[in-house]
Amino acid sequence: MTGSEKDGPLVLGIETSCDETGVGIVRGNTLLADAVASSVDEHARFGGVVPEVASRAHLEAMVPTIERACETAGIRLHDVDAIAVTNGPGLAGALLVGVAAAKALAIGLGKPIYGVNHLASHVAVDQLEHGPLPEPCLAMLVSGGHSSLLRVEDVTRGVEPLGSTIDDAAGEAFDKVARLLGLPYPGGPEIDRVAVGGDPRAIRFPRGLSQQKDMDKHRYDFSFSGLKTAVARWVEQTRDSGAQVPMADVAASFRESVADTLLTKAVAACTDHSIPRLLLGGGVVANARVRELAAERCAEAGIELRIPPLSLCTDNGAMIAALGAQLIIAGHEPSTLDFGADSTLPATIIQA
Ligand code: KG4
Ligand code: ZN
Repeated sequence: MTGSEKDGPLVLGIETSCDETGVGIVRGNTLLADAVASSVDEHARFGGVVPEVASRAHLEAMVPTIERACETAGIRLHDVDAIAVTNGPGLAGALLVGVAAAKALAIGLGKPIYGVNHLASHVAVDQLEHGPLPEPCLAMLVSGGHSSLLRVEDVTRGVEPLGSTIDDAAGEAFDKVARLLGLPYPGGPEIDRVAVGGDPRAIRFPRGLSQQKDMDKHRYDFSFSGLKTAVARWVEQTRDSGAQVPMADVAASFRESVADTLLTKAVAACTDHSIPRLLLGGGVVANARVRELAAERCAEAGIELRIPPLSLCTDNGAMIAALGAQLIIAGHEPSTLDFGADSTLPATIIQA
């Protein structure tokens, strides 16, 4: 038996769906390297991710990031058993850079390739930290690009989307509200910083799609654009009246609305489906209040809460490698080389 058969496949994963160039290496469910180059600073002056800038940054970062990951893992490229790559959803041009790089590696090295779903990878990554995922499980993924509630029976076979945002993603709401408060991009950490000492009950901002009338059609869907507009209007009226905008109270009250909406819907989904397990992923999970409220609400409802370490919650290559390895272990055949990047890939399609 070779080492790779004994300990699981050695997989290199490439992630380029947004502004992080991630290259991760796993052996089975063991994390060996997680190299990430972010172009976030290049987007800051635009207040959001500029797709062309992200694509160019991926091109420049790809080779050095692959080299860094191999060095950290202590392997040579020829050692890998397979390449995994995000083929969607995400920014089309950004995805293309990763898919092209992964195919070039697969062909050059003569290794199999697995095109994998970015959302399912956010779920699969938790195994690297906490071991096998008890299934079924509910997952809430909240980042700058997505806000989804998923029911996971077996992540290598498919995930069932229960709901998603109908307008802005949760992270996007943080970024937009930060901008209207004059805070830099990315807004999430800034709102968290400014909210310290603020009163979360000072202003009752709306909870999107949470009224009785929304519950039939949109029970597990999110909407954050109304909240953003409500904050904008409140700030404008305060300024017009000549008063100072109480930044800490606005930030704390806004953050409370997002956290409350997210956790109310996630806990409802767990309860409705009799699934007492919730997994969180995505950059918004870094939010102090979201984490605190998740712990509180899950404890109250008897729900086991799983949160991967923050470096694995935000976009990274290790999550792609993790799903690739899990597909191999489950006996899935590699993808054929004719797959493309699919910016709107549904959560139900796990592998290209
Ligand atoms: O997962 P991620 O790194 O990239 C994608 O968008 O896919 O998430 C980035 C998003 C940004 O919108 C950022 O504002 C948000 O996550 N974020 C936060 C916090 N840290 C990052 N949102 C709220 N609170 C935070 N502390
Ligand atoms: Zn993501």
